[in-house]
Amino acid sequence: TFPSRVFSGIKPSGGLTLGNYLGAIQRWVDMQEDPTFETIFCVVDMHAITVWQDPADLTRATREVAAAMIASGIDPERSILFNQCRVPAHAELGWLLSCVARVGWMNRMTQFKDKAGKNTEKVSLGLYAYPALMAADILAYHATHVPVGEDQKQHVELTRDIAAKFNHDYGVDFFPMTEPVIEGPAMRVMNLRDGSKKMSKSGESDMERINMLDDADTISKKFKKARTDPEALPSEMDGLAERPEARNLVNIYAGLAGMSSQAVLGEYGGAGWGTFKPALAELAVEKLAPVSDEMRRLLNAPDEIDALMARGAERAAAVAEPILAETFRIMGF
Ligand code: ADP
Ligand code: NA
Repeated sequence: TFPSRVFSGIKPSGGLTLGNYLGAIQRWVDMQEDPTFETIFCVVDMHAITVWQDPADLTRATREVAAAMIASGIDPERSILFNQCRVPAHAELGWLLSCVARVGWMNRMTQFKDKAGKNTEKVSLGLYAYPALMAADILAYHATHVPVGEDQKQHVELTRDIAAKFNHDYGVDFFPMTEPVIEGPAMRVMNLRDGSKKMSKSGESDMERINMLDDADTISKKFKKARTDPEALPSEMDGLAERPEARNLVNIYAGLAGMSSQAVLGEYGGAGWGTFKPALAELAVEKLAPVSDEMRRLLNAPDEIDALMARGAERAAAVAEPILAETFRIMGF
């Protein structure tokens, strides 16, 4: 048994980005290697359908996320890796926890406001309720740690609120107070064309993001065209305070190189973009090319992916089902 249990997931909705890689997958591999953590990773396919997904696209994107994790170093033997929809305990516990969560809590979720925009009447009920399903994803495993990017911090805090209310209402000490783990220089990778928005799978233009499956030329072109300012790089982080686009590129370099952002400035302080951008592109290609090559190989062998994920689902269910059964029992079913 492990002292700590890690759970995290990625939605299969569109192509994976460098934000997903640096903010999530790369760090999950580190946690897998850490002997203090048991690691469980999920393709959260039921979260994807909170907005419309063409069925064929969903099938492909689900395999792409699995392939990205495996190609990046998630070992389906050492970690439990599976698709959410194959473990019914998620949906069942999701309903139970929807009855614990309060509408007022959901109303405070900033991601819902961002995604729904002015259109709050027309979006799916699932988009609104999905943080309760996310709480179930985490609590179905009694996960103690959830590594996420900055954008997901509020949802992990909601998970703690739901766990605390359940424990309080039923007079038990059953669900753990899960900790978000947000560490590293690239926990909020920004859009390459607009430094005020996060890099995400969907968006107006492909030039806004680096996709994990982009080829070397595309990666170089996107960094070359990335928005910056005319100043050279400073030698201290303070010099990036009012320069979100510049700071983003430095953070990306740091995340890829496994360095702190300050150490990157130690090396490149005084350099102009004509020096830094090609160095960044080269580093990104060096890191991503082996991963995307292996992803392409796996995507050409979908049966291999499906078999690994089916095995992972059995292992996940073996952990989640007793916890779900105990939850039902506590509630009086
Ligand atoms: P997306 O926002 O791309 O649809 P998900 O919601 O599936 O991605 O998030 C999967 C993981 O990737 C989460 O841990 C999330 O915090 C992380 N992540 C997504 N975008 C970024 C980003 N731009 N920077 C850092 N981490 C990110
Ligand atoms: Na581990």
